[in-house]
Amino acid sequence: MNQNLKKKFLDTALFAAESASKLIQKAPNRSVKTYKSKTDLVTETDIASEEIISNIIKSKYPDHSILAEESGLNQIDDAEYIWVIDPLDGTTNFVHNYPSYAVSIALVHKNKPIVGVVVEMPAMNTYWATDDDGAYCNNKIIKVSQTDSLIQSLLVTGFGYRHDSNWNINMNLFKKFTGATQGVRRLGAAAIDICHAASGTVDGFWEFDLNPWDVAAGVLIAERSGAKVSKMNGEKYSIYDDQILISNGIIHQDMVNIINQYI
Ligand code: IPD
Ligand code: CA
Ligand code: CA
Repeated sequence: MNQNLKKKFLDTALFAAESASKLIQKAPNRSVKTYKSKTDLVTETDIASEEIISNIIKSKYPDHSILAEESGLNQIDDAEYIWVIDPLDGTTNFVHNYPSYAVSIALVHKNKPIVGVVVEMPAMNTYWATDDDGAYCNNKIIKVSQTDSLIQSLLVTGFGYRHDSNWNINMNLFKKFTGATQGVRRLGAAAIDICHAASGTVDGFWEFDLNPWDVAAGVLIAERSGAKVSKMNGEKYSIYDDQILISNGIIHQDMVNIINQYI
């Protein structure tokens, strides 16, 4: 692909993510508008953020499709490109003023992300990557950690809104990994968890029941920072899979071996 074109895609994603994150940070109220389920919240800000991002993308690329969390798939016939958008990842954190929520935007071409941008709020860290370069945070290159054993690792996971059998399995995995490492964190915004694995803040991340908008940008950022990305059982991963394992690569097989005892 023409490098100028990819740079334009990246600039659009950065502009849209930064515009949305400014809107989110200035939001006059954080109250819940509707509930998708008892614990799955939507605010006016989720909707406003999605609108601002979609409008920027539609004005630049009217022939591209958009897959966005709150409005679903806006399919343009024969579209080669899909923009995958989480307008506010970590809505529960946002509502409670817990400092871990994000905007996540990816451009997907032939099922693979080619551009990914995640803005971590309220810290305002901008992570980004393209599929032919490294990964960056605030324009500095980022790399995965070099931690070479599980017992020296710090991990992060998340728990989805459906309290089903995977949720129960994850409770057991949480306990197991807490005993096998230096600790497991649970922050509540998957896009940020993934960027923390990409930047070496944590050594690994896993989660069930995710959607493409939670992961599409983060997965590219992680891959370009040197992370290994797979399904939880170690098999080949696509952003349309609902479960993921990301690590610095060195501890990956040890994580798979433990997970496989539980799934
Ligand atoms: C959620 C967050 C959370 C994860 C959930 C996601 P939302 O996204 O990423 O960390 O555990 O599975 O649905 O609803 O806040 O955009
Ligand atoms: Ca999300
Ligand atoms: Ca969201």
